[in-house]
Amino acid sequence: MSERTAPGAGSVALVTGATSGIGQEIARQLLEAGLTVHVAGRDPDRLRATMEALASFGDAAHPVLLEVTDQASIDAAAAAIGTLDVLVNNAGINPGRRSALDAPIDEFRRAYETNVFAVVAVTAAFMPVLRRSAHPRIVNVSSGTASLAWSTGDNPQFDWQAVRGGGTAYRSSKTALNAVTLHTAQALDVEGAPFKVNALAPGLRLTRLVAGMQRGGDPAEAAVGAVRLALLADDGPTGGFFSWDGTPVPW
Ligand SMILES: NC(=O)c1ccc[n+]([C@@H]2O[C@H](COP(=O)([O-])OP(=O)(O)OC[C@H]3O[C@@H](n4cnc5c(N)ncnc54)[C@H](OP(=O)(O)O)[C@@H]3O)[C@@H](O)[C@H]2O)c1
Repeated sequence: MSERTAPGAGSVALVTGATSGIGQEIARQLLEAGLTVHVAGRDPDRLRATMEALASFGDAAHPVLLEVTDQASIDAAAAAIGTLDVLVNNAGINPGRRSALDAPIDEFRRAYETNVFAVVAVTAAFMPVLRRSAHPRIVNVSSGTASLAWSTGDNPQFDWQAVRGGGTAYRSSKTALNAVTLHTAQALDVEGAPFKVNALAPGLRLTRLVAGMQRGGDPAEAAVGAVRLALLADDGPTGGFFSWDGTPVPW
């Protein structure tokens, strides 16, 4: 029998913000791939409803109450989870679509608290247990709107005119998340640790996050991209930014 070179059936994953949209689909697809999944959500009612939706997976799906901006909540979740191969930092908020000219500073603080600082805190808390994995993987769910290259028009498919100058609290928080992703991957690589740490651009999806938008694809399609990065083989990329379809996104 050949030796395993990637996480797969029997591996253990944690997905934050798994009670809705893309995160719930990521949890479902990891369960379909045979992983045990810690399904994390901050709201007990939504978590209960999500567990009902995933009931067909039986004991492979574990509910975890996790408010990612609360260090005590993070510490409690980390203390309860003794094995982990895959961490998907999916929880995120979009606090508004205003530009830097009219967005209140609180909009920036809220975006950065959830989309950047919480990812740093959750990753740090689970790093000891991830370090014990033979194939540790971290996927940070970012956004194509965070790409500075795309934001300056370097992508015919990206409607950069529609977002030009706007949504800056959200988009710049995801640009910061991209930098954190790259630097984390590099720091682990310098150590020679076998991590793969990558950021995902899931594409525009019809979820609560983009409520009010007229168009957007199926969140399940975005989840395919997250699962691809979660189950990367040992010779796969690290420190990259990838679209849901696997193509690299320019920073
Ligand atoms: N939809 C898109 O078009 C799109 C595009 C680019 C990137 N993204 C990214 O994709 C990720 C998932 O978003 P989505 O579109 O699936 O939106 P969503 O349906 O609103 O899901 C967001 C999830 O994050 C959770 N969450 C938010 N703040 C949290 C906190 N402080 N602690 C714990 N959980 C928290 C939410 O929990 P509650 O249910 O309790 O609110 C929810 O489960 C986000 O990082 C988002 O930025 C989405």
